[in-house]
Amino acid sequence: MPDPIRIAVLGASGRMGRAIMRLALDDARFRLAGAWVRPGSVADGVQAATLLGRGTCGVRVASDLAAVIRAADVAIDFTRPATAVEAAGICAAEGRALVSGTTGLSSGDRATLERAADRIPVVWAPNMSVGVNLLLRALDEVARRLGEDYDAEIVEAHHRHKVDAPSGTALALGEVLARARGRELAELMDCGREGQTGERVPGRIGMHSLRGGEIVGEHDVRLIAAGEELRLGHTAFGRDAFAAGALRAAHWLQGREPGLYGMAEVLGF
Ligand SMILES: NC(=O)c1ccc[n+]([C@@H]2O[C@H](COP(=O)([O-])OP(=O)(O)OC[C@H]3O[C@@H](n4cnc5c(N)ncnc54)[C@H](OP(=O)(O)O)[C@@H]3O)[C@@H](O)[C@H]2O)c1
Repeated sequence: MPDPIRIAVLGASGRMGRAIMRLALDDARFRLAGAWVRPGSVADGVQAATLLGRGTCGVRVASDLAAVIRAADVAIDFTRPATAVEAAGICAAEGRALVSGTTGLSSGDRATLERAADRIPVVWAPNMSVGVNLLLRALDEVARRLGEDYDAEIVEAHHRHKVDAPSGTALALGEVLARARGRELAELMDCGREGQTGERVPGRIGMHSLRGGEIVGEHDVRLIAAGEELRLGHTAFGRDAFAAGALRAAHWLQGREPGLYGMAEVLGF
């Protein structure tokens, strides 16, 4: 059996960070080599396993980002854009692979990830579940066949703690729809509606974000014509679907050439 892949989990105190550590600690293909939290976090210095309500795993949570990344083969980042960007720079400088699922990236943040990917292999995806990546693929097929007679409205729902909107996944779904129309999403997107909007303009893509409670993630694409409606959607019941995808990406990255990859490549779609 090959040596386990050493992973550093960035955002170890977060919902996704904990889900990834929980799966990794029970998977012999991986060894938790580092767990990062922000300086000043109450979790700084504690045993990583205690964040999961478990005994010990021999790794202490730390807030020195470069040191945590250096201890690993691959960094897995589910944090915020500023941290994702900083981690990408460190991974590139230290020659470590990067898996990032952080959403809400600006175009400048994406450019930083792309620059890092000139030197190291990077997987970035706004949603790492198998189901959503199949949905993206199915939507591409459907959108190309339906054409613009079908009004496209995307509705997403997430927990009350989410800090970016629309969700990264909703934007990815919108990009698929826009591409099928030969356009960019930014040219077509109507984010919510209010006031004297006038009639719906053909070809626009409506985008709506609901926030509440502890909803893990729901995405619905409604394609509505005069006589019928086609709905495609996905519901995540827990974070393990994303966490398992992140670990799959970390495994897939081993020995890869530098480059920016997506989940379609990881999953072999
Ligand atoms: N790609 C996917 O499949 C997927 C799935 C789910 C979520 N996500 C994305 O992953 C990211 C994390 O989600 P989550 O639900 O795990 O979030 P969360 O529970 O809020 O955790 C965020 C983690 O990032 C840390 N962090 C680092 N820099 C930060 C900053 N500048 N401000 C606030 N926190 C910072 C937090 O540290 P503290 O504990 O010190 O606050 C915490 O450990 C989000 O962008 C989310 O949209 C992606």
